Amino acid sequence: MTNTIIEPFKIKSVEPISFTTREYRQKALREAHYNLFLLRADDVLIDLLTDSGTAAMSSRQWAAIMDGDESYAGSRSFFKFEKVVKDLTRFNFVIPTHQGRAAEKILFTVVGGRGKVIPSNTHFDTTRANVEFSGAAAVDLPVPSALETDKRSDFKGDIDLNRLKDLIRKVGAANIPLCILTVTNNSVGGQPVSMRNIRETSALLNKHGIPLFLDACRFAENAFFIKLREPGYKDKSVHDIAQEMFSYADGCTMSAKKDALVNIGGFLALNDAAIAEKSRSLLIMTEGFPTYGGLAGRDLDAMAQGLEEVLDEDYLKYRIRSVEYFGDKLEKAGVPVLVPTGGHAVFLDAKRFLPHVPAHQYPGQAIAVEVYLEGGIRSVEIGSVMFGRETDGEFVGAGLELVRLAIPRRVYTQSHIDYAAEAIIEVFKRRERIPGYRITYEPPYLRHFTAHFEPVVKETTPG
Ligand code: F0G
Repeated sequence: MTNTIIEPFKIKSVEPISFTTREYRQKALREAHYNLFLLRADDVLIDLLTDSGTAAMSSRQWAAIMDGDESYAGSRSFFKFEKVVKDLTRFNFVIPTHQGRAAEKILFTVVGGRGKVIPSNTHFDTTRANVEFSGAAAVDLPVPSALETDKRSDFKGDIDLNRLKDLIRKVGAANIPLCILTVTNNSVGGQPVSMRNIRETSALLNKHGIPLFLDACRFAENAFFIKLREPGYKDKSVHDIAQEMFSYADGCTMSAKKDALVNIGGFLALNDAAIAEKSRSLLIMTEGFPTYGGLAGRDLDAMAQGLEEVLDEDYLKYRIRSVEYFGDKLEKAGVPVLVPTGGHAVFLDAKRFLPHVPAHQYPGQAIAVEVYLEGGIRSVEIGSVMFGRETDGEFVGAGLELVRLAIPRRVYTQSHIDYAAEAIIEVFKRRERIPGYRITYEPPYLRHFTAHFEPVVKETTPG
């Protein structure tokens, strides 16, 4: 019997990647002020910055693109897309948007506002930003195990139902326009949410008349984890599991740049006619007519095709296993990773990786810089650079100090992953010589995108 799980595709079109020398990367890093967002992508060999909008489309998706109908109103591509989304989610209204955050912006403009509270297992940054921009408060209620990076547990993405109950009691159901579950829970390591948790959240909210929404951008990966790990789901199809997940919800926002396997796109889908009506009015103002919503007709066709392909169980088996393979390889070499590995990324635990670098010297950033220097691999810090702040001159750290290595869908092969693991292991071997960083420039908001850094100890500059 063969055991190797292979890529369930063959390659028809290839894109070259650029090899650089260590000296070149050293110079590129200095010019980018040690911020990997400021590198040119051409200077990156393997780009694990994000799994969003970076998927390789299939030949069928490219064929669907040619078949796209670019009519301004009533496009055939819209009806094809709408049918696929309705069949999957069973929501009554489907509103296309150019990406996930546009759906969030519209939804929270309609239901948010001062005095309102939006609970979640964990809001993704753009979700939180859109909730807060409306004047509402975004409250994260992850289960305690989500913060224990070294302890395995099947559904670390769950929402803490006791804390949700307390919150409803404290602020009152009337002030909670909806609760949103992020599946999988990106910010705590791409961890899945169990069907039981979705069902129980829905039942609790129902008692109080609060709608449940899913931030569904990685719904297929979440459904596959349920199949693998949750009692009673082993023999169900991922399609049926995904449908059941949506059946407990009243609506969803979706960044199609993840599990719809496209480079751009998203949607808002829901049952409430009044919210749908208001959302469509906003959509026309900011995105476009309701049958294209900020996209080309061909994008809708590619999404429709991608949403069907992503539920192929051979694909999901390969997807989840290849991320796990990467995590296992690092773990075996002693590299501290968040366990179990999530659906879309491997997360390094920077606190355990660089115990000598304090949070205010950004250990995650230090590792991300070294991994680029070592192998031309781009990752992203998810720690105190992203979430830390200065309050009255006092540094407040992020809690978790992580480095995310997100795996684009269907883009890299096992040898790319082997190479990336080797480079990280090399960095781990020389961890004691890795310096911390200080910020030399930062903008007022979302500093991680544009901040400038320098190594703290000049004489041991990286390398
Ligand atoms: N929700 C989650 C859970 C996400 O991970 C993202 C994007 C969004 C919403 C927003 O979607 O980018 O289409 O507007 N995550 C990307 C990432 C950017 O790298 O994790 P978008």
